[in-house]
Amino acid sequence: MKQEYDVIIIGAGPGGYVAAIRCAQLGLKTACVDKWLDHNKKPKLGGTCLNVGCIPSKALLESSELYHQSEYDLTQHGVEVKGISLNLKQMMDRKETVVNNLTFGIESLFKSNKIDWIQGCATIVNDSKIPDKQTKTTKVALHNDKEVTLNAANIIIATGSSPVNLGIAPTDQKNIVDSSGALAFNKVPKTLGIIGAGVIGLELGSVWKRLGSKVKIFEAQDDFLSIADKLIAKESLKQFVNQGLDICLNTRLLSAQSKKNSVLVKYQDSDGEHSETFEKIIIAVGRSPNSEGLFEDETELVIDAGGFFHVNDRCETSLPGIYAIGDTVRGPMLAHKGSEEGLMVADLIAGKHREVNYNLIPSVIYTQPEIAWVGKTEQELETSGVDYNIGTFPFAASGRAQAVNETVGMVKVISHAKTDRILGVHIIGSQASEMIAQAVIAMELGASSEDIALTMFAHPTFSEAFHEAALSVSGNALHIAQRRGGS
Ligand code: FAD
Ligand code: NAI
Repeated sequence: MKQEYDVIIIGAGPGGYVAAIRCAQLGLKTACVDKWLDHNKKPKLGGTCLNVGCIPSKALLESSELYHQSEYDLTQHGVEVKGISLNLKQMMDRKETVVNNLTFGIESLFKSNKIDWIQGCATIVNDSKIPDKQTKTTKVALHNDKEVTLNAANIIIATGSSPVNLGIAPTDQKNIVDSSGALAFNKVPKTLGIIGAGVIGLELGSVWKRLGSKVKIFEAQDDFLSIADKLIAKESLKQFVNQGLDICLNTRLLSAQSKKNSVLVKYQDSDGEHSETFEKIIIAVGRSPNSEGLFEDETELVIDAGGFFHVNDRCETSLPGIYAIGDTVRGPMLAHKGSEEGLMVADLIAGKHREVNYNLIPSVIYTQPEIAWVGKTEQELETSGVDYNIGTFPFAASGRAQAVNETVGMVKVISHAKTDRILGVHIIGSQASEMIAQAVIAMELGASSEDIALTMFAHPTFSEAFHEAALSVSGNALHIAQRRGGS
């Protein structure tokens, strides 16, 4: 059976499904192919993000934080709760319900936008490499064992990424798991080792620590969270250590061997080699793009180091009419980055103008405190020799933060020394994920720190700390003692 489309999208994660909706809105006949099957072998839309990524991890982060707060923090508010206990099955069931509601929501959006959801594994047929060929062909091995051929003038590759495997610590999804396994433990492990103190290690380490695991994180680098601004990274390390996360930097994993109900880990640090046994191990050392095997045969498509499809700023690959977006291409592996690329490509295919501002991709780590930033870090500016001013404001001096007992952290604003244009905003604090949007909007509109300083913020809010940090760039913060001319 052959079917004709304007656009075939391969992958229905936040890159692919958003591209599909936008293509349909623009009047393009659209098919979206996805091979995802859940643990009941049911096809699901939403990709990594909805099924085993952003959404289930945030559901568990919220539930575990509530559990932790009711155990330790509510008494400070004068709320005495007795007999608190953990119902992990209910917590996991709620997570599943959230995932199912959202994936079903995309199914409904596909129906209302008349997008054909093709359930199976796509392979791009090799004659797609002929540059002047107008129609490209994709074969899909359907889940029902049949095969279908799809033709279209345009293909958007949005096949996402998978966890990096370590040969010295092979996952068995029982004792040694990746992030998907770590979102589905049916019992709180007494001891949990995590390889990699990156975003997944910190978020999932926080979940299981709050639920009662003794957590040790092994990180190969000697710098903690080197992608973040150094001041924020330093503060976050202090907070995580205070919370009881045992973070071992500059530590090399030698092996992890799964036993019946435990894992034997061998590692090396500056004191030499060590062995330690954990109930479970999570491997969280990064993700790699799903680019292998997508073409029927060898392709002339250019692939960068690490398996990323080579694309320009318009997400065009080296083959005309074939685009690649999201985790399959350069840039941070973030859902919103993939979605923006999907929107851009859909508009470009429909002949409209659209760009992605790669300089303003916000990053958030949903620990407690949260960490969020956009733009340049201080160390990046130092390296590139740009002169800058800094303003900081601690949440400890914020009325709202005091009132809700969330006084940890700060806002840091970096602006250009000559023009005062904001170059970066870095936040550690309980509302950082929401507050960072203000910085993105300000920077997208080319605001200076003075523009923010002259803007009115509602009182009492966490956002006032952004106002104060901007005031602090010129030494004029109101609620901290400050030397004029910058802090
Ligand atoms: P994916 O979401 O990976 O989707 C790719 C889809 O392509 C999948 O459904 C797959 O089945 C399908 N596919 C692959 N190959 C084929 C084929 N040959 N044929 C048919 N279908 C195919 N990012 C954030 O921004 N915020 C977060 O809070 C966040 N939390 C995360 C937490 C965890 C635990 C993890 C693992 C990731 C998290 N991420 C987060 C990252 C985010 O999930 C990814 O950046 C995002 O999902 C990438 O979107 P994508 O559309 O490129 O690919
Ligand atoms: P990551 O790149 O964030 O962190 C991996 C860490 O593992 C790094 O610190 C690295 O130095 C370390 N590492 C690598 N090899 C190691 C080894 N052999 N031994 C010890 N440490 C080692 O990758 P992570 O945490 O797996 O996340 C993957 C992607 O998913 C990230 O790129 C992130 O963007 C995305 N993600 C985003 C989230 C968010 O936006 N809140 C949440 C979770 C994931």
